Amino acid sequence: MHVIAFPGQKGGTGKSTICLNLAVELAQQDYRVVILDADPQGSLSSWYQAAQAHEEEHPDYKYPTVIGALDNLKKTLESLAPAFDVAMIDLPGRDAKIQRQALMCADTALLVIAPGSFDIWTLEHTLDYVNQAKELRQERDELLGTDNPLQAAFIRNRFVAQQNLSKRVSELLGEVEEPILESAVSARVAFAEVPAEGIGVSLYHDKNAAREIKVLTQEITEKFGISNIYNTIEKSKLPAA
Ligand SMILES: Nc1ncnc2c1ncn2[C@@H]1O[C@H](COP(=O)(O)OP(=O)(O)OP(=O)(O)O)[C@@H](O)[C@H]1O
Ligand SMILES: [Mg+2]
Repeated sequence: MHVIAFPGQKGGTGKSTICLNLAVELAQQDYRVVILDADPQGSLSSWYQAAQAHEEEHPDYKYPTVIGALDNLKKTLESLAPAFDVAMIDLPGRDAKIQRQALMCADTALLVIAPGSFDIWTLEHTLDYVNQAKELRQERDELLGTDNPLQAAFIRNRFVAQQNLSKRVSELLGEVEEPILESAVSARVAFAEVPAEGIGVSLYHDKNAAREIKVLTQEITEKFGISNIYNTIEKSKLPAA
């Protein structure tokens, strides 16, 4: 099971939005996805209730599972690992403790950044967390003889190619070590509308929003080697090189 965390010190950049839409897209592609809703606001737990309320109308839709209230993140992840291909931890835009815990457990941290001065100013804090976690994990690996580093990448959300603030975000991110994913997510009303419908943009009429999330999902699965049981079987059928 591949664990993805969405850390960030700034509320409202789109962590829950990106987490949800990636999860729904992966579910349509037959990944078994669980979202761990670590935010006391419970946005994605509310989404799950909406999804369950609409489930009978759409028997062909595939949904991620959402689990709330986490006592022990590590133990929870261990118990979920046999049943899921991907776990996504939606984090609150505060609460240092859960952010640190998630970064110690995750394989990949996706850092969602939106073009705004406040977002840019808090970037450094988020990177401090990620770098601290990377160092701690390196020490842990050396001590235990394991190899489980944290990978991180930025996702640009509410991106407008020709806008100065968006360009500034790209420039700033060019100066830090973590890679920026090529596929950015635009500001689209579809992203604000879908949660109440209990779906993600993959199942919505805005085909441009759906396409953006599909491309982003593909980049993430390829870059971080995330696979489900079907493409694992496909790969294992290939003759040895
Ligand atoms: N690409 C987008 N286009 C349009 N609206 C968006 C987009 N991304 C996020 N939003 C909207 O912005 C608001 C904040 O997004 P979201 O709740 O995902 O942020 P967050 O980082 O999870 O915040 P918090 O830290 O408070 O949990 C929501 O109303 C959401 O619908
Ligand atoms: Mg959120």
